[in-house]
Amino acid sequence: MGNTYKIAILAGDAIGPEIMAQAIRVFDILAKHRDLAFELIDAPFGAGAYFEYGKAFPEQTKAICDDADAILKGPVGLSHEESKKIPVEEQPERGAILPLRARYNTFANFRPIFLSKDMAHFSPLKPEIIKEGIDILLIRELVGGLYFGEKEQGVNEAGLRYVKEVLEYDEDQIRQVLEVGFEQARQRKKVLHNIHKSNVLMSSVFWNEVLDEVSQDYPDVEVKHLLVDAAATALCLNPGQFDVMVMENMFGDILSDQGGGILGSLGLMPSACIGPDKAYYEPSHGSAPDIAGMNIANPYSMIGSVAMMLDMSFGLKAESEAVWLAMKSVFETGYSTSDLSSGESDTKIVSTIEFADLVMDELAKLIAAT
Ligand code: IPM
Ligand code: MN
Repeated sequence: MGNTYKIAILAGDAIGPEIMAQAIRVFDILAKHRDLAFELIDAPFGAGAYFEYGKAFPEQTKAICDDADAILKGPVGLSHEESKKIPVEEQPERGAILPLRARYNTFANFRPIFLSKDMAHFSPLKPEIIKEGIDILLIRELVGGLYFGEKEQGVNEAGLRYVKEVLEYDEDQIRQVLEVGFEQARQRKKVLHNIHKSNVLMSSVFWNEVLDEVSQDYPDVEVKHLLVDAAATALCLNPGQFDVMVMENMFGDILSDQGGGILGSLGLMPSACIGPDKAYYEPSHGSAPDIAGMNIANPYSMIGSVAMMLDMSFGLKAESEAVWLAMKSVFETGYSTSDLSSGESDTKIVSTIEFADLVMDELAKLIAAT
């Protein structure tokens, strides 16, 4: 018997369970055609977990995740009204996602922004801007910076309510994510875009100082510096100039959503959150409560997160590649999900399950053939 991989499945809220149900079909196909086994263990996480167990990240889920080889997480969160029934500290963002990231120190967040030339009709950008397609790897620092700094709120000496939120990094935190950026750049086009705001923020001046040191070890990688605001514009006007980008947590949150924007939907944004000992995988988008249960959510980012896990946690590169190819070929043959407006009259809009059916058929063929 070959390897058995133990995977914690945190399906999450709203559309989470329906896209998760489709994504995990990939494991069945691989187990059928390869000498591999996948043990999937469901665990409650998010708003649903709070209502059932009083905690958004319950103890039993922590134990399951601790014990797993990798974690697959769906989107969490409920509508604004439903969220108000949950105390602030247990709302899924603060009560579940950030603690998950902190627990496994998943400091490097890989967010591929990818659109093949034949999927270019999904993008709001003009074909002459997209040219041969979009292929960017955005690396976001995920466990420090503005998200994780000290927070304080109160009344100041003038009697005014105030808030304070700190952006803090030590040099090791910056170095480790920059090294990931340089390593990726080295394996790709040997160009690293460093995104910062050093004209205003001391934290960026320091970040760049550390970058200069780290870059000594990567003489083969060319560093290009760009201010984060300018990068937002450049992503729209000339995405082809980017290959690997690296940046602070909050900058990465914002620019990665812009990445989804230039692709045409956040539904096309899977991600990997990598720590020293453990990694978890999740779509970059939210739980879309408005379309939950309607079988119309795009499962691409959830299935893509499985593809990233196969490669990055299990070293199953060919299998990962097959998942990407299968999804690409479904979109390229003229299918679309309802989040993707294509402007092309011959696109056929398919449901969550129909899309996954097409992908799994294609995947089974690809896997059986190799
Ligand atoms: C993301 C999300 C999260 C973040 C939220 C849900 C806490 O927007 O993964 O980009 O801000 O990091
Ligand atoms: Mn975000």
